[in-house]
Amino acid sequence: MELTVAITGASGTIYAHRTLQLLAASGAVGTINLIMSDTAATVAQVEMGVNLKDPSAEKFNKWLGLDSGSKLIRYWRLDNLAAKPSSGSNRQAGMIIVPCSMGTLGAVASGAGTNLIHRAADVCLKEGRKLVLVPRETPYNAIQLENMLRLSHAGARILPACPGFYHRPKTIDDLVEHLCFRILDQFDIPHSKKSQWTGEEADNG
Ligand SMILES: Cc1cc2nc3c(=O)[nH]c(=O)nc-3n(C[C@H](O)[C@H](O)[C@H](O)COP(=O)(O)O)c2cc1C
Repeated sequence: MELTVAITGASGTIYAHRTLQLLAASGAVGTINLIMSDTAATVAQVEMGVNLKDPSAEKFNKWLGLDSGSKLIRYWRLDNLAAKPSSGSNRQAGMIIVPCSMGTLGAVASGAGTNLIHRAADVCLKEGRKLVLVPRETPYNAIQLENMLRLSHAGARILPACPGFYHRPKTIDDLVEHLCFRILDQFDIPHSKKSQWTGEEADNG
């Protein structure tokens, strides 16, 4: 499976980090087209103390704990509108924007995007491929809520960065993984089932 993952400048770099690691560990994904906004690198530095400026596949491999020679990550510059994810003829399962800033959300919702993240998302919508956005802001204003509704009507999946607590998380990683599992579920990508709610016993009497 080929997927595109975009990291933008909303709070929650840790969600991108864990999602990428889980995708890598799943064995179900052969290629990840990775795109990062400029502000995403700033947020990554603030939140995880990692330097993702001047990105490269090697830098991402190191960050994700992958082998230095791993070919899983195919890194594309934000201004490279000739990149593969920019074209509908590049067959892929879809795209995840995690975390998704309100700026990127608005650009995709307007259909007037200017960079490769916006274009790749637009391509997913026009080709009927899965587009999963993980927005993060609080509180949301009316424009942001309308943008989410607009995107939902256009076929995008809005999966806000709001983890549940019914699995009784003990660590931040428990919380983060719980959300990332939901992202993988959108593509039927296998992962540990430990966060799935198994439900009460059936009411058989
Ligand atoms: C540390 C930090 C945290 C931020 N958190 C958020 C956030 O949670 N949600 C959001 O929409 N924007 C957030 N922003 C602002 C965005 O980064 C800013 O709007 C940026 O222009 C988004 O651009 P991008 O979509 O190209 O990444 C944050 C910025 C910084 C520096």
